[in-house]
Amino acid sequence: MRKMTNRLVLLGFLLGVLFWIFDSYIDASFFGKESFAQTFFNPSIFEIYIRSFVMLLFLAFSIYVETIITILKKTEAELKRVSHQNKLILDSAGEGIFGLDLQGNITFLNPSVVNLTGYDEKELIGKNSHNLIHRLKQDGTPFPKDDCPICAAYRDGVVRHEENDVFWRKDGTSFPVEYVSTPILEKNVLIGAVVVFKDISDRKKMEETHLENMRLLVANKAKSGFLANMSHELRTPLNSIIGFSELLKQRSGLNEKQEHYIENILKSSKHLLELIDDILDISKVEAGKIELTIEKTSLIGIINETVSLIKDNAQKNNISLIKELDPQLDIIEADKRRIKQVLFNLLSNSIKFSKKEGGIATIKTKKEGDMVKISVSDTGIGINVDKMERLFKSFEQLDSGSARKYGGAGLGLVISKQLVELHGGKIMAESKEGEGTTFTFLLPLMKKEKN
Ligand SMILES: Nc1ncnc2c1ncn2[C@@H]1O[C@H](COP(=O)(O)OP(=O)(O)OP(=O)(O)O)[C@@H](O)[C@H]1O
Ligand SMILES: [Mg+2]
Repeated sequence: MRKMTNRLVLLGFLLGVLFWIFDSYIDASFFGKESFAQTFFNPSIFEIYIRSFVMLLFLAFSIYVETIITILKKTEAELKRVSHQNKLILDSAGEGIFGLDLQGNITFLNPSVVNLTGYDEKELIGKNSHNLIHRLKQDGTPFPKDDCPICAAYRDGVVRHEENDVFWRKDGTSFPVEYVSTPILEKNVLIGAVVVFKDISDRKKMEETHLENMRLLVANKAKSGFLANMSHELRTPLNSIIGFSELLKQRSGLNEKQEHYIENILKSSKHLLELIDDILDISKVEAGKIELTIEKTSLIGIINETVSLIKDNAQKNNISLIKELDPQLDIIEADKRRIKQVLFNLLSNSIKFSKKEGGIATIKTKKEGDMVKISVSDTGIGINVDKMERLFKSFEQLDSGSARKYGGAGLGLVISKQLVELHGGKIMAESKEGEGTTFTFLLPLMKKEKN
């Protein structure tokens, strides 16, 4: 401001001095009254008035011009700032933004339009947007301009919002879009529209995945329901086969061959029943139909009962069963039958996957805070590190030949995991191939009240 005032005073002063010289010259040359020096240094009072008045006029004029220039400069700077800001906003918007005139020709666009459509700016500006990127519908049939919501906005001045449409790229492929077409008014006169659109491919994919998951969930529930029903239907005749085979076996007078056949029928039926029970359990768990009966029960009792169930099998396979039980730990709150089932699964695996020469299976218990730690270790064939993560998956047997070699359906560990987790616990495995495996599961000592 100070700089401007100094400049104006100097300009006014200079113009004043120039006028003073000019006027003295005119007076001396044309009117010839006095010499130039006399009229310059010693003017009459009238001339002083005139010259001072003109000098003031010059000064006022300079101030006026300077003020106008300053205002213009400020306006220009503000305009530059605003348009730079607008450009930044347009350039950084992830959405494609373009303007249309009343014919539907593109008047401006941001870089996202170029990125999303594959056309460059020159190919878009001045061109009809509908013909370029919106000429076809989702099903590939022509999209008449009269039905186009974008065009409707600059025709009738009403905002259009479309959530599910497609735009077409330069390479002929399409992409799903959501857009808003807003009319542009200038002094209440419709002059075009601005379109803001976004590529909704990711949203569509997420929606499809969600739908697919829902479909799978329903199918899975139906499958579990079917399995549960089927297992139930299968058990009934199987139980009668087992019952009658046992009756037959007890009859005297059977020859050796007949006894052998009956023995085979019994063995196979019992194996089948075990499988069906496992499948029933799995489907119940998946359908969320297993309900635990939690009660105060003796952990030592559970272990002893399980060991006596499996003792013969262990002996046959030359496995010594060892118990290392925490003397501080006995009564826990759990579903006795289900914990027995988990222990039985783990112990039968220790025996099943033992080495030819036999080995040791150890059951350990330990109280850890408000949890119970139970582990079953063996000195068997062990598990390959790469296969550990598949351990607790349904129908997974780590060796493809496992079913033939060892029997089983690959359900024992899945069921065990689910049962332990239903108790609010967790199960883990550690193993070294060729050396042995330890399965450890943690259970809450007391039943956890649900919030
Ligand atoms: N103690 C173990 N030592 C070595 N491998 C084991 C042991 N326990 C489980 N596995 C491996 O994990 C796989 C899955 O075990 P899981 O108990 O779920 O199924 P399974 O014993 O094969 O069949 P099922 O238990 O249904 O009769 C087994 O096939 C085996 O390859
Ligand atoms: Mg098993």
